[in-house]
Amino acid sequence: MSSIIMRDKICIVTGANTGIGKETAIGLAEMGATVVMVCRNRRRGESAAADIRRLTDNPAVELMIADLSSQRQVRQLAADFQIKHSRLDVLVNNAGVITPRRQRTVDGLETQFAVNHLAPFLLTNLLLDVLKASAPSRIVVVASQVESRGKIEFDDLQGERRYDYMAAYCQSKLANVMFTYELARRLDGTGVTANCLHPGVIATNLLSDYMKRPRAIGMVNRLRYPGPSEGAQTSIYLASDPAMEGVSGRYFRCDTGETPSSKASYDEDAWRRLWEVSEQLTGMRQQ
Ligand SMILES: NC(=O)c1ccc[n+]([C@@H]2O[C@H](COP(=O)([O-])OP(=O)(O)OC[C@H]3O[C@@H](n4cnc5c(N)ncnc54)[C@H](OP(=O)(O)O)[C@@H]3O)[C@@H](O)[C@H]2O)c1
Repeated sequence: MSSIIMRDKICIVTGANTGIGKETAIGLAEMGATVVMVCRNRRRGESAAADIRRLTDNPAVELMIADLSSQRQVRQLAADFQIKHSRLDVLVNNAGVITPRRQRTVDGLETQFAVNHLAPFLLTNLLLDVLKASAPSRIVVVASQVESRGKIEFDDLQGERRYDYMAAYCQSKLANVMFTYELARRLDGTGVTANCLHPGVIATNLLSDYMKRPRAIGMVNRLRYPGPSEGAQTSIYLASDPAMEGVSGRYFRCDTGETPSSKASYDEDAWRRLWEVSEQLTGMRQQ
């Protein structure tokens, strides 16, 4: 167990009922943090919250329900959080999804782009004031090494003309990295840091979906790949380690630590363009 103490810290972890998110919540709760788990399903969320309280002996594990594919629910989540809490020390944008067939959210947006990129974009922006007021504070974005295979298709961001589920996933993960870099640039001097990471290839439901295997059969993955506890280590490190104090705008890998991301991810014009289109698609800026 870590010797880092997070007793006065309040942390949000999205997608915390299973996989890497649940293990991230466990790691932070073990350090004594108040952990706010964001989950879309109350039953799964309550069951995971009970597990985490029991495993960590930390009663300060809270559950907030939000389906991040709905921008109305993201806005409600940010508002409800700020009614309950006056500070936020760590925001871990972890929730992610892979949809082999093209799906549309209630807002009419392609689901992977909406959940993997637009939801963290909107949630983070809605929580920026409380993060700044709580500085030093940290934003952690769970991206993926597949960002290197991604291309931001500005002319067809939502796969309306052509949908390839893997291209859509890789695009959303490259968007995570570019969003982090542009966010870090904008937050320079505020005491709020933003970093992103590749957690490893980890046996979770998402990996089964990635491989187009039924999740039950995908349990076989557990024999071949590390489990979620290992997958959570980089998120926990970025969220809590004193060595990360003041470090911002970087990409970390589970195996090599701080590492350059793909060449494409350093295109600053693309960061700004993606930020503007994301503002439009989330209603943060009128078209
Ligand atoms: N596993 C890997 O090999 C790997 C590699 C690189 C990056 N990643 C990244 O790691 C992160 C965590 O993934 P994981 O592997 O731990 O997958 P996972 O076990 O499938 O967990 C994903 C989490 O996101 C939640 N989620 C999905 N859609 C949501 C929505 N609309 N609203 C709210 N929550 C939603 C899921 O909730 P439900 O349980 O209700 O579905 C679940 O809690 C993702 O960002 C993923 O891209 C994973």
